[in-house]
Amino acid sequence: MYECPIGTLWLESSSGAHVFARLQSRSARSMKLDIRIFKDLEELSRAAAELFVEQAAQSAAERNQFLVALNGGSTPNRLFQLLATEYRKNVDWSKVHVFWGDERCVPPEDPGSSYGQARDMLLNHVPIPQANIHRVKGELDPAAASNDYWRVLKEFASPPLNWPRFDLVYLGMGEDGHTASLFPGSPVDVSEPTMPVIAQYQDRPANRVTLTPLVFNSARVIVFMATGEKKAPTFAEVLGDRYNPERYPAQRIRPDPGTLIWLVDEAAAAQLPEES
Ligand code: 6PG
Repeated sequence: MYECPIGTLWLESSSGAHVFARLQSRSARSMKLDIRIFKDLEELSRAAAELFVEQAAQSAAERNQFLVALNGGSTPNRLFQLLATEYRKNVDWSKVHVFWGDERCVPPEDPGSSYGQARDMLLNHVPIPQANIHRVKGELDPAAASNDYWRVLKEFASPPLNWPRFDLVYLGMGEDGHTASLFPGSPVDVSEPTMPVIAQYQDRPANRVTLTPLVFNSARVIVFMATGEKKAPTFAEVLGDRYNPERYPAQRIRPDPGTLIWLVDEAAAAQLPEES
């Protein structure tokens, strides 16, 4: 557990004492939910970097590799910088295998590429073997890129699963409740590990590939990062009583067995209900 300036909630079982326990009880049987509220993006990003260091060490010790999936968007930029600088020496990069939870279908040099973003801010600055970087081929069309990515994932399958059990997954959340490229209204009952997507969100590339909840929910640890007052109403809904995954795809993320950690700033947490 981290000490954080505002407060930490750790709900392991049906304590029933807190409103968040309702999410815990209606959700996956063996999921641990951990909500941490920080003053700002800087402190949140430091906690995210420390989680990377901890999970990388633990996974390397237990399984001799660390499988991590990164996210795009603006929120992880500071995390990437921190990992590339202050935290660089705290990680055995030879054991790290990097994947992406989703990708925009643009070439790696396009400013919209999540791979390009991580490459420029993080991967070019750490001694990770090139062979350990498993990007989605955004230069292909969504269906072809999705199939290719599935092929890559199979190489890291954790039997009996047909895909890897990620040690750590970072996710963001949009103001509309989407996460990765699982957008409101997208199919809920998916049986494939990867999915091509066409979605308009802000001014970002529309053609995408995403991992599906099948893969996300097999992960050992999932870390959501969300900041800013514009996300506050959605964050409260996602953690609220009503389970409406068609409307709020972030609610579909429930690793079982696994740990779901929300790292949010005060602004994003402003509309959470009071403790009861
Ligand atoms: C992407 C991700 C997306 C992102 C959220 C939050 O755009 O690459 O697919 O799910 O994490 O939209 O984005 P921000 O961090 O920019 O708010």
